[in-house]
Amino acid sequence: MRTLIAANWKMHGNLSWVQKPAEFRALFPANQAKGDKNIDMLLCPPAHMLEAMARASEGLDISIGTQNCHDQSSGAYTGELSADMVAETGANYVILGHSERRAIFGDTDDWVASKTSAAQKAGLTPIICVGESRAEREAGHAEEVVGSQIAGSIPMDADGDNLVIAYEPVWAIGTGLTPTIEDIAIIHDHVRGCLTTRFGAKTADKIQILYGGSVKPSNAKEILALKDVAGALIGGAGLDMESLAAIAAAV
Ligand code: 13P
Repeated sequence: MRTLIAANWKMHGNLSWVQKPAEFRALFPANQAKGDKNIDMLLCPPAHMLEAMARASEGLDISIGTQNCHDQSSGAYTGELSADMVAETGANYVILGHSERRAIFGDTDDWVASKTSAAQKAGLTPIICVGESRAEREAGHAEEVVGSQIAGSIPMDADGDNLVIAYEPVWAIGTGLTPTIEDIAIIHDHVRGCLTTRFGAKTADKIQILYGGSVKPSNAKEILALKDVAGALIGGAGLDMESLAAIAAAV
C-alpha cells in the first residue's frame, strides 16, 4: 500500500509559503530517496492559498488539500466553501471531521458524512478524522468511540475506493504525547475491522489509515512501520519542511 504523508497547516501561514512545496522537494528529491515512489505527499494549507499552492506544486508530485468543506453545493452559508469550490482551486483532498472542527465548530458525525458525500461527488478524496478524548481513553472506551465515529461519519453512498481515514487521538494533538505503539496498532486494527464490516475486505484492505497526533521525525519510523498505518497526518512538524522531509524519509 502507498504511504500518504500529509501536513495539516491549520490556521498558519501566508502566501509567501507557496515556496514550501519546492523547498520540500529540494530536501527530498524524488530520484534520491529510497522508496519515494511509494510515498504520496500532501500539503493542506489555509483556504486562501489553495489555488496558489496547487499551481506551485504542479510538476513536484505534491498534492494539495483543504481542511474542511461544506456539504451543500451553494447557498447562504457565510464564510463557507463548497466541495466544488475547493475542487476548482486545484486541490484534490479534503480533511473532514478533524477534532478541532468537531470541538470548536460543531461538526457532527452526520455532518461529516454529508460533507464526505459532497467531497466525493466533487472528485475530492476525503480524509475522515476520528479519535477519542483523554477521558474516553482513560475510561477504556477508545475503540468504541472510534468505531462509532467511523460508522457515523461514512455516508451510505460512500465510495470506499476514494477514502482515507485518519486516527488522531484528541489528547495526542499538539501535546507531544502519543499512544504506545501497541495502542496505535490496536486502534488501527479496529478501524480496519470497522471498514471491513462496512465495505468488505477487498475494498477495506485498500483504504489508507493514517495516524495523527504529535508525529515528528523522532517517532515517525516506529509508527509508520506498523502494518495498518499507511501514513501520517502531521500538524506542528508539518509546518517545517525539514521536519516533514525527515518524516517522509522515515517511511
Ligand atoms: P500535531 O502533529 O501538531 O499533534 O497535530 C496533529 C493534527 O491535528 C493533524 O491534523
